[in-house]
Amino acid sequence: MGEAVRLLVVEDSENDAELILRELRRGGFSPVARRVDTRMTMEAALDVRGDDALWDAILLDYNLPGFGGLQALESIRARDPDIPVIIVSGTIGEEIAVVTMRAGAQDYVLKHNLTRLPQALRRELGEAIHRRERRRAERELHESLLRLGETFTQTAQSLAALTEFRDAYTAGHQRRVAELACAIAVEIGYSENRVEGVRLAAVLHDIGKIHIPAEILVKPGKLNDLEWQLIKEHPRVSFDILAPIDYPWPVAEIAYQHHERLDGSGYPRGLTGDEILPEAQVLAVADVVEAMSSDRPYRAALGIDIALQEIAKHAGTKYDAAAVKACALLFRKKGFEFSDGRAARQGRDAA
Ligand SMILES: [Fe+2]
Repeated sequence: MGEAVRLLVVEDSENDAELILRELRRGGFSPVARRVDTRMTMEAALDVRGDDALWDAILLDYNLPGFGGLQALESIRARDPDIPVIIVSGTIGEEIAVVTMRAGAQDYVLKHNLTRLPQALRRELGEAIHRRERRRAERELHESLLRLGETFTQTAQSLAALTEFRDAYTAGHQRRVAELACAIAVEIGYSENRVEGVRLAAVLHDIGKIHIPAEILVKPGKLNDLEWQLIKEHPRVSFDILAPIDYPWPVAEIAYQHHERLDGSGYPRGLTGDEILPEAQVLAVADVVEAMSSDRPYRAALGIDIALQEIAKHAGTKYDAAAVKACALLFRKKGFEFSDGRAARQGRDAA
């Protein structure tokens, strides 16, 4: 009893198909084969569901009447990237052989040299097992990375919620800032990976407010000097909380810098110009615009127009001009909206 193999033989000559199978039997196989000779019957045979390896391999005649070998390869590869395809054909030139290999055939055997076929088939069946295993391993790795990424995001959101629970005005602020900061980052051409860094830093930027007594965060009146000093500490506390986490982006530093201004008028360190990370400049614009367009304990929302005017007034002096321009474009031309439809409220902060 030879090695069982299920073959789809795409071949218009019944005789040739029989010769092929005979050669395989001689070479130690027990083939179970179906012969098809039109595109429709081939695709129907490939589309049978329920078992993703209904066929172990495909033997494909390159010259079928009304149905080219390349078309057939394209159709096969669209359905199954891994199944071995061996071209079994009358004389084809080297050039065509190369083209078929490029189009996804694994090997080719000429009909006048069929003795090569069993060996070629055996090798390709082995290779296909490796390909499938590799692909499955890649898929599993990809899925577990996706899950890990989700867990990562959820953990960051839970951390962010720590501060927001204490202060209804802050609820959702970081998430909305993250939405806007990411949109700005995309608009000014950040890579997808860099945008992720911005998102994470934005989600967590105010985590240092955990250090500020809740009464100060929600205080409706003016703050005294001491209270103001405490408020100004929060970016550094954010940094201290985030610095031990080995993020692939400078998340802690971005959070540390989110109240810095290009002209040195920000806090806590009074950094200027290039000392401030570009990501922190994007975050600063998003933070200010979200804050100004939201209710706060000591005033009602000023609205998006006033917020955009404010950043425009200081574009290039306090705020990065490109980020300001992108932000205005998002609201005025691209219909940007916060995902919660702007039920925005925001805690005591220093916009
Ligand atoms: Fe802040």
